[in-house]
Amino acid sequence: MNQIIAPFNPDKRALSGMRPTGPLHIGHYFGAIKNWVEMQEELESYFFVADWHALTSDYADTSGIRAYIEDMVVDWLSAGLDPEKSVLYLQSGVKELAELHLILSMITPLGWLERCPTYKEQQQNIAGKDLNNYGFLGYPVLMTADIIITRARWVPVGGDQLPHLELSREIARRFNALYADTFPEPEARLTPTAKCPGLDGRKMSKSYGNGIFLHESLEEIAPKVRGMLTDAARLRRHDPGNPEVCNLYPYHELLTGEAVRAEISSGCRSAAMGCVECKKILLKGLADFLAPIHEKRAAISARPGLAWEVLAEGQKKANRECACTMEAVREAMRMKY
Ligand code: TRP
Repeated sequence: MNQIIAPFNPDKRALSGMRPTGPLHIGHYFGAIKNWVEMQEELESYFFVADWHALTSDYADTSGIRAYIEDMVVDWLSAGLDPEKSVLYLQSGVKELAELHLILSMITPLGWLERCPTYKEQQQNIAGKDLNNYGFLGYPVLMTADIIITRARWVPVGGDQLPHLELSREIARRFNALYADTFPEPEARLTPTAKCPGLDGRKMSKSYGNGIFLHESLEEIAPKVRGMLTDAARLRRHDPGNPEVCNLYPYHELLTGEAVRAEISSGCRSAAMGCVECKKILLKGLADFLAPIHEKRAAISARPGLAWEVLAEGQKKANRECACTMEAVREAMRMKY
């Protein structure tokens, strides 16, 4: 490893980021944040707001980004990310990231990016937005810079990000081979999660309007749960149902203890339990799950500006580390003048 880098163990460091898309829903919680909260107990953890990445799709209208950042960070804190334990910061606050991204863009073959499965897919999927731009093709290059500039080994992500992680490893390896051994190769730490589909069974997403948000009150959530479609074949109360095809049941796997869950499952199959009762149990589970999150949120909301203060504090630490990596990069490339 390069001399300039203070000795440290990359295997003890984790990093992840999230694009600021506004308030978080329970899909974000079970898909990512829960894992992050656990990780901060065990590893030196860096979590950042990927506001430059938000531009790949929202470049034409940036008016929402500021509020989205704040909403998201308030949710991070409410859900248990602790600035005493993790480094929380903004991507756009690390100017060295732009420098590293530029350098990586020089050594990344176009074919690697064009072949990336997320590239073609998303370009077709995000209707109404022109994603035919340079930044979108380079999304994984910026993501690589995000990761390797902290020299973290572990990157907690969902399975959809695996192609990006693979590219990150390839780019890091290429840098090390071309210049000097500077970067550890990052590895995905897959979120060991049960699935958390949206209220309608599709992926939970703000744009589908099928989410339960961490900030929502029980009064807001109750009608959503009551309106959920269960097993469509279970027309009458005394028809037996099948939890495997029910939209509600996956939530019990996340929120309901094993014993009660077994009762629900057999009660559904035998028609001893109806959907109304099953939904009541779920609502109680949601209430218990959300109570501590809402309590923290109330304390945070009483201190306006707190999210920005937390980010500014984390920024100092992140920037020190990133500046140090960039010194090593310039040295490795013999471009330290
Ligand atoms: N691409 C990630 C997503 O859409 C967000 C992200 C940006 C990220 N940079 C990262 C995740 C670095 C992990 C590490 O979810």
